[in-house]
Amino acid sequence: MVNNSDLHRRRAAAVARGIANSLSVYAQRAENAELWDVEGRRYIDFASGISVLNTGHRHPRVVAALQQQLGELTHACFQVTPYESYVALCERLNALAPGQTPKKSILFSTGAEAVENALKIARYHTRRSAVIAFSGAFHGRTLATMTLTGKVQPYKAGFGPMLPDVFHVPFPCAYHGVTAQQSLSAIEQLFKSDLDPARVAALIIEPVQGEGGFYIAPPEFLRSLRALCDQHGIVLIADEIQSGFARTGRMFAFEYSGVEPDLMTVAKSIAGGVPLSAVIGKAAIMDAPPPGGLGGTYAGSPLGCAAALAVLDVIADEQLVERARVLGTQLMTRLKALQAKCPAIGEVRGLGSMVAIELVKNRRADQPDADLTRALVQASAARGLVILSCGIYGNVIRVLSPLTISDALLNEGLELLEAALTDLTAGQMAATG
Ligand SMILES: Cc1ncc(COP(=O)(O)O)c(C=O)c1O
Repeated sequence: MVNNSDLHRRRAAAVARGIANSLSVYAQRAENAELWDVEGRRYIDFASGISVLNTGHRHPRVVAALQQQLGELTHACFQVTPYESYVALCERLNALAPGQTPKKSILFSTGAEAVENALKIARYHTRRSAVIAFSGAFHGRTLATMTLTGKVQPYKAGFGPMLPDVFHVPFPCAYHGVTAQQSLSAIEQLFKSDLDPARVAALIIEPVQGEGGFYIAPPEFLRSLRALCDQHGIVLIADEIQSGFARTGRMFAFEYSGVEPDLMTVAKSIAGGVPLSAVIGKAAIMDAPPPGGLGGTYAGSPLGCAAALAVLDVIADEQLVERARVLGTQLMTRLKALQAKCPAIGEVRGLGSMVAIELVKNRRADQPDADLTRALVQASAARGLVILSCGIYGNVIRVLSPLTISDALLNEGLELLEAALTDLTAGQMAATG
């Protein structure tokens, strides 16, 4: 029988090391919020393949939609012989996007591809080149998106030169002492010292930073950015790739601010595990590039569209937006209770069910504990829980369980996490009594 360690040896010999593995557990099958490895061991999945499975692994309705699609059409290329599901999905996305301005959409395959194309659309529309992004942001690993990504190691170092004309400003982060006002002042300062705002095509922001550490942009900050972009004719791009599709207790996290972004990038949970992404935006901006300027052979594949249409039905019918809020409350309550016992947890924060704990030494925000975080990912897996780390300092554990998870499985997963953390920090727990 194939086992994890044999596979890991084969992997080391055959697969480039540039793609990292958080665990050396090889997945064989999965259902909703559970996953089994090649040795038959069962795990509760708090990672969802990095936020892809808000509707769970192999949701029956997604599987049925895919099976039907497999029997009809797997590829045509929308640019050659278009198909209805692409159009229908764009109609649904246009209706779901925040704000009243008429929308149009275009489909792609990956998150990075959506961000690349949002940038192209913004540049074409404004005939400007510069872009503002945030420190700690993650927008992808392609040349343009790694430039927008606000973390050098491991994403940018050695891969230069970067795309010119990209500027980073601090993301507001109360826990690390960066206020929204300081972030806004940094943009004003940038406009004074380095960058003519009349040259700025776009400002891109994640309403909740994903890879960066689940830091939440305050709603009033997003409103200030909206005003700033309006003042200077800058296209405001919301990157909802990790935060979208009910995860935060709203369909899109931007809804909490009441702000209508000009463009929005979505991917991950849009299609329940099938590669699909989209740029949704104000029709007048979306229509700026001429025919042929945007697209891709696999962009908006029939399988991706079929899965996404089923996902949108599941989110609505199973009321996953509301479920995300309930799960979020349970997570926050339970993790805050753990924080009271465990000094290694510096902060518990979340928006809906996008919840994280930040691990530190001596209860100090300026002493991130990346070693403990790495150890906790491994110790949780050893107990049967798949969980992900993130954060600019590598010291954040994020919960991204399917929104279709049962209360029983959520609690079981939290118990495993708690037991693993208690084991690893036994001395510290005892010291606080
Ligand atoms: C906010 C955000 N933007 C963009 C991306 C890139 O998406 P992909 O890995 O599908 O290219 C990610 C992936 O984690 C993300 O979280």
